[in-house]
Amino acid sequence: MAATKKTTSASLAERKGLGEKIAVVTAYDVAFARLADRAGVDVVLVGDSLGMVVQGLPNTLPVTLEEMIYHCRMVARGVERAHVVVDMPFLSYQASMEDGVRAAGRLLKDGGAEAVKLEGGAEVAELVERLVQIGIPVMGHVGMTPQSVHKFGGFKVQGRSDGQAQSILAGARALAEAGAYAVVVENVPSALAATITEAVTIPTIGIGAGPSCDGQVLVMHDLLGLDPEWSPRFARRYAEIGREAMAAFSAFVADVRSGEFPSGKETAR
Ligand code: KIV
Repeated sequence: MAATKKTTSASLAERKGLGEKIAVVTAYDVAFARLADRAGVDVVLVGDSLGMVVQGLPNTLPVTLEEMIYHCRMVARGVERAHVVVDMPFLSYQASMEDGVRAAGRLLKDGGAEAVKLEGGAEVAELVERLVQIGIPVMGHVGMTPQSVHKFGGFKVQGRSDGQAQSILAGARALAEAGAYAVVVENVPSALAATITEAVTIPTIGIGAGPSCDGQVLVMHDLLGLDPEWSPRFARRYAEIGREAMAAFSAFVADVRSGEFPSGKETAR
Protein backbone atom coordinates (compact mmCIF):
# COMPACT_ATOMS: atom_id res chain seq x y z
CA MET A 1 0.00 0.00 0.00
CA ALA A 2 1.17 3.54 -0.65
CA ALA A 3 3.19 5.27 2.07
CA THR A 4 1.50 8.40 3.42
CA LYS A 5 4.44 10.36 4.87
CA LYS A 6 6.10 12.98 2.66
CA THR A 7 9.38 11.71 1.19
CA THR A 8 12.24 14.21 1.28
CA SER A 9 15.88 14.27 0.24
CA ALA A 10 16.77 13.83 3.92
CA SER A 11 14.43 10.87 4.47
CA LEU A 12 15.82 9.20 1.33
CA ALA A 13 19.42 9.68 2.45
CA GLU A 14 18.53 8.11 5.81
CA ARG A 15 17.32 4.95 4.06
CA LYS A 16 20.88 3.99 3.04
CA GLY A 17 21.61 0.56 4.42
CA LEU A 18 18.17 0.09 5.99
CA GLY A 19 17.15 -2.48 3.43
CA GLU A 20 13.95 -1.01 1.96
CA LYS A 21 14.66 -0.30 -1.70
CA ILE A 22 13.80 3.08 -3.19
CA ALA A 23 11.39 3.13 -6.18
CA VAL A 24 11.84 6.00 -8.63
CA VAL A 25 9.89 6.65 -11.80
CA THR A 26 9.93 9.47 -14.31
CA ALA A 27 6.86 11.59 -15.07
CA TYR A 28 6.37 14.63 -17.25
CA ASP A 29 2.80 15.80 -16.57
CA VAL A 30 0.22 16.07 -13.82
CA ALA A 31 -1.86 12.99 -14.74
CA PHE A 32 0.94 10.44 -14.59
CA ALA A 33 2.70 12.18 -11.69
CA ARG A 34 -0.52 11.89 -9.66
CA LEU A 35 -0.88 8.18 -10.50
CA ALA A 36 2.74 7.43 -9.57
CA ASP A 37 2.38 9.39 -6.33
CA ARG A 38 -0.83 7.59 -5.37
CA ALA A 39 0.74 4.22 -6.20
CA GLY A 40 3.47 4.77 -3.61
CA VAL A 41 6.48 5.64 -5.75
CA ASP A 42 9.17 7.23 -3.51
CA VAL A 43 10.58 9.70 -6.04
CA VAL A 44 9.09 11.23 -9.17
CA LEU A 45 11.89 12.30 -11.50
CA VAL A 46 11.18 14.89 -14.17
CA GLY A 47 13.87 13.47 -16.43
CA ASP A 48 15.36 15.24 -19.40
CA SER A 49 14.51 11.91 -21.07
CA LEU A 50 11.38 13.91 -21.91
CA GLY A 51 13.36 15.10 -24.93
CA MET A 52 13.22 11.55 -26.27
CA VAL A 53 9.94 10.10 -24.98
CA VAL A 54 7.77 13.23 -25.09
CA GLN A 55 9.41 15.41 -27.74
CA GLY A 56 10.60 12.61 -30.06
CA LEU A 57 14.23 13.77 -30.19
CA PRO A 58 17.15 11.36 -30.74
CA ASN A 59 18.83 12.39 -27.46
CA THR A 60 18.44 14.75 -24.49
CA LEU A 61 20.86 17.46 -25.61
CA PRO A 62 18.38 19.97 -27.12
CA VAL A 63 16.12 20.07 -24.03
CA THR A 64 16.01 23.58 -22.54
CA LEU A 65 15.78 24.90 -19.01
CA GLU A 66 12.39 26.49 -19.82
CA GLU A 67 11.05 23.11 -21.00
CA MET A 68 12.25 21.42 -17.81
CA ILE A 69 10.59 24.13 -15.72
CA TYR A 70 7.34 23.77 -17.69
CA HIS A 71 7.14 19.99 -17.20
CA CYS A 72 8.32 20.16 -13.60
CA ARG A 73 5.57 22.61 -12.70
CA MET A 74 2.95 20.19 -14.03
CA VAL A 75 4.47 17.24 -12.19
CA ALA A 76 4.76 19.16 -8.91
CA ARG A 77 1.01 19.92 -9.06
CA GLY A 78 0.21 16.21 -9.19
CA VAL A 79 2.43 15.05 -6.34
CA GLU A 80 1.56 15.23 -2.65
CA ARG A 81 3.71 12.60 -0.99
CA ALA A 82 6.61 11.57 -3.23
CA HIS A 83 9.85 13.52 -3.56
CA VAL A 84 10.07 15.58 -6.78
CA VAL A 85 13.47 15.85 -8.44
CA VAL A 86 14.18 17.44 -11.80
CA ASP A 87 17.04 17.05 -14.26
CA MET A 88 19.27 20.02 -15.02
CA PRO A 89 19.37 20.03 -18.85
CA PHE A 90 22.54 20.02 -20.94
CA LEU A 91 24.46 23.31 -20.86
CA SER A 92 22.47 24.74 -17.95
CA TYR A 93 25.33 23.94 -15.52
CA GLN A 94 28.48 22.93 -17.42
CA ALA A 95 29.75 26.39 -18.47
CA SER A 96 30.03 28.11 -15.10
CA MET A 97 29.18 27.84 -11.43
CA GLU A 98 26.93 30.89 -11.75
CA ASP A 99 24.92 29.27 -14.59
CA GLY A 100 24.49 26.16 -12.47
CA VAL A 101 23.32 28.02 -9.39
CA ARG A 102 20.83 30.13 -11.36
CA ALA A 103 19.46 27.17 -13.31
CA ALA A 104 19.06 24.99 -10.21
CA GLY A 105 17.46 27.89 -8.36
CA ARG A 106 14.93 28.42 -11.14
CA LEU A 107 14.01 24.73 -11.19
CA LEU A 108 13.06 25.00 -7.51
CA LYS A 109 11.66 28.54 -7.59
CA ASP A 110 9.68 28.40 -10.86
CA GLY A 111 9.41 24.63 -11.43
CA GLY A 112 8.39 23.59 -7.92
CA ALA A 113 11.07 20.87 -7.70
CA GLU A 114 12.42 19.78 -4.33
CA ALA A 115 15.86 18.78 -5.66
CA VAL A 116 17.86 18.78 -8.88
CA LYS A 117 19.72 15.98 -10.61
CA LEU A 118 22.84 16.59 -12.65
CA GLU A 119 25.17 14.35 -14.61
CA GLY A 120 28.89 13.83 -13.99
CA GLY A 121 31.34 12.92 -11.25
CA ALA A 122 34.37 14.79 -9.90
CA GLU A 123 33.98 17.53 -12.54
CA VAL A 124 30.66 18.66 -11.05
CA ALA A 125 31.53 18.11 -7.38
CA GLU A 126 32.31 21.79 -6.72
CA LEU A 127 28.93 22.83 -8.11
CA VAL A 128 27.17 20.15 -6.07
CA GLU A 129 28.86 21.46 -2.91
CA ARG A 130 27.78 25.03 -3.68
CA LEU A 131 24.17 24.05 -4.41
CA VAL A 132 23.93 22.04 -1.20
CA GLN A 133 25.46 24.97 0.74
CA ILE A 134 22.72 27.29 -0.49
CA GLY A 135 19.94 24.82 0.28
CA ILE A 136 19.39 22.98 -3.00
CA PRO A 137 19.48 19.18 -2.57
CA VAL A 138 21.34 17.39 -5.38
CA MET A 139 21.02 13.90 -6.81
CA GLY A 140 24.07 12.84 -8.82
CA HIS A 141 24.15 10.68 -11.95
CA VAL A 142 27.17 8.58 -13.03
CA GLY A 143 27.93 5.81 -15.50
CA MET A 144 26.24 6.11 -18.89
CA THR A 145 25.25 9.75 -18.55
CA PRO A 146 23.02 10.48 -21.57
CA GLN A 147 24.18 14.10 -21.95
CA SER A 148 27.61 12.66 -22.91
CA VAL A 149 26.15 10.42 -25.63
CA HIS A 150 28.50 11.81 -28.29
CA LYS A 151 31.57 11.24 -26.12
CA PHE A 152 30.47 7.61 -25.56
CA GLY A 153 29.60 7.07 -29.24
CA GLY A 154 26.04 6.02 -28.36
CA PHE A 155 24.04 4.93 -25.32
CA LYS A 156 26.57 2.22 -24.46
CA VAL A 157 27.42 0.40 -21.24
CA GLN A 158 30.16 2.29 -19.36
CA GLY A 159 32.69 1.02 -16.82
CA ARG A 160 33.71 -2.24 -18.47
CA SER A 161 37.41 -1.35 -18.45
CA ASP A 162 39.32 -0.95 -15.17
CA GLY A 163 40.13 2.68 -15.95
CA GLN A 164 36.50 3.58 -16.65
CA ALA A 165 35.27 1.69 -13.61
CA GLN A 166 37.76 3.49 -11.32
CA SER A 167 36.77 6.85 -12.71
CA ILE A 168 33.01 6.17 -12.26
CA LEU A 169 33.63 4.96 -8.70
CA ALA A 170 35.74 8.04 -7.92
CA GLY A 171 32.99 10.23 -9.39
CA ALA A 172 30.33 8.67 -7.17
CA ARG A 173 32.59 9.14 -4.12
CA ALA A 174 33.23 12.79 -5.02
CA LEU A 175 29.48 13.43 -5.32
CA ALA A 176 28.79 11.87 -1.92
CA GLU A 177 31.61 13.90 -0.35
CA ALA A 178 30.27 17.08 -1.97
CA GLY A 179 26.92 16.51 -0.23
CA ALA A 180 24.70 14.82 -2.84
CA TYR A 181 21.90 12.90 -1.09
CA ALA A 182 21.65 10.08 -3.69
CA VAL A 183 23.21 9.06 -6.99
CA VAL A 184 21.79 7.46 -10.12
CA VAL A 185 24.07 4.74 -11.52
CA GLU A 186 23.16 4.10 -15.15
CA ASN A 187 24.06 1.28 -17.51
CA VAL A 188 27.21 -0.07 -15.83
CA PRO A 189 28.10 -3.72 -15.10
CA SER A 190 26.28 -5.07 -12.08
CA ALA A 191 29.55 -5.74 -10.18
CA LEU A 192 30.60 -2.10 -10.53
CA ALA A 193 27.18 -0.89 -9.30
CA ALA A 194 27.57 -3.21 -6.29
CA THR A 195 31.06 -1.80 -5.55
CA ILE A 196 29.76 1.78 -5.77
CA THR A 197 26.79 0.94 -3.53
CA GLU A 198 29.17 -0.52 -0.96
CA ALA A 199 31.62 2.38 -1.22
CA VAL A 200 29.37 5.42 -0.90
CA THR A 201 27.38 6.61 2.09
CA ILE A 202 24.39 7.75 0.01
CA PRO A 203 21.70 5.64 -1.72
CA THR A 204 22.47 4.46 -5.25
CA ILE A 205 19.57 4.36 -7.69
CA GLY A 206 20.23 1.94 -10.52
CA ILE A 207 19.04 1.80 -14.10
CA GLY A 208 20.45 -1.02 -16.18
CA ALA A 209 22.93 -1.57 -13.35
CA GLY A 210 21.68 -4.79 -11.73
CA PRO A 211 20.00 -5.57 -8.41
CA SER A 212 22.58 -4.36 -5.85
CA CYS A 213 21.68 -0.67 -5.88
CA ASP A 214 19.69 0.85 -3.03
CA GLY A 215 16.88 1.68 -5.44
CA GLN A 216 15.78 1.43 -9.06
CA VAL A 217 14.54 3.97 -11.57
CA LEU A 218 12.64 3.42 -14.81
CA VAL A 219 11.43 5.78 -17.47
CA MET A 220 7.64 5.81 -17.23
CA HIS A 221 7.13 5.08 -20.94
CA ASP A 222 9.25 1.91 -20.68
CA LEU A 223 7.54 0.72 -17.49
CA LEU A 224 4.05 1.25 -18.92
CA GLY A 225 4.80 -0.05 -22.42
CA LEU A 226 3.69 3.24 -23.98
CA ASP A 227 5.67 2.46 -27.12
CA PRO A 228 4.30 -0.91 -28.25
CA GLU A 229 7.25 -1.42 -30.61
CA TRP A 230 10.23 -0.73 -28.35
CA SER A 231 11.71 -0.97 -24.89
CA PRO A 232 15.32 -1.00 -23.64
CA ARG A 233 16.83 -4.37 -22.72
CA PHE A 234 17.07 -3.52 -19.02
CA ALA A 235 13.49 -2.24 -18.62
CA ARG A 236 10.57 -4.34 -17.46
CA ARG A 237 7.13 -3.58 -18.93
CA TYR A 238 4.53 -3.71 -16.19
CA ALA A 239 1.67 -2.83 -18.56
CA GLU A 240 0.83 -2.58 -22.24
CA ILE A 241 -0.72 0.88 -22.13
CA GLY A 242 0.43 1.65 -25.69
CA ARG A 243 -1.50 -1.33 -27.09
CA GLU A 244 -4.52 -0.53 -24.91
CA ALA A 245 -4.49 3.11 -26.03
CA MET A 246 -4.35 2.06 -29.68
CA ALA A 247 -7.26 -0.33 -29.16
CA ALA A 248 -9.27 2.45 -27.50
CA PHE A 249 -8.51 4.92 -30.32
CA SER A 250 -9.55 2.31 -32.93
CA ALA A 251 -12.79 1.59 -31.06
CA PHE A 252 -13.53 5.33 -30.97
CA VAL A 253 -12.89 5.68 -34.71
CA ALA A 254 -15.19 2.73 -35.42
CA ASP A 255 -17.96 4.13 -33.18
CA VAL A 256 -17.76 7.60 -34.77
CA ARG A 257 -17.86 6.15 -38.28
CA SER A 258 -20.81 3.87 -37.48
CA GLY A 259 -22.73 6.55 -35.58
CA GLU A 260 -22.59 4.40 -32.42
CA PHE A 261 -21.03 7.38 -30.60
CA PRO A 262 -22.46 9.57 -29.18
CA SER A 263 -25.56 7.92 -27.72
CA GLY A 264 -28.48 9.88 -26.30
CA LYS A 265 -26.88 9.71 -22.84
CA GLU A 266 -23.72 11.32 -24.23
CA THR A 267 -25.61 14.19 -25.88
CA ALA A 268 -26.50 17.60 -24.38
CA ARG A 269 -30.20 18.22 -23.69
O1 KIV B 1 16.28 11.59 -17.80
C1 KIV B 1 15.95 10.57 -17.17
O2 KIV B 1 14.83 10.08 -17.24
C2 KIV B 1 16.97 9.97 -16.32
C3 KIV B 1 16.70 8.59 -15.80
C4 KIV B 1 16.75 7.60 -16.88
C5 KIV B 1 17.62 8.23 -14.70
O3 KIV B 1 17.98 10.55 -16.08
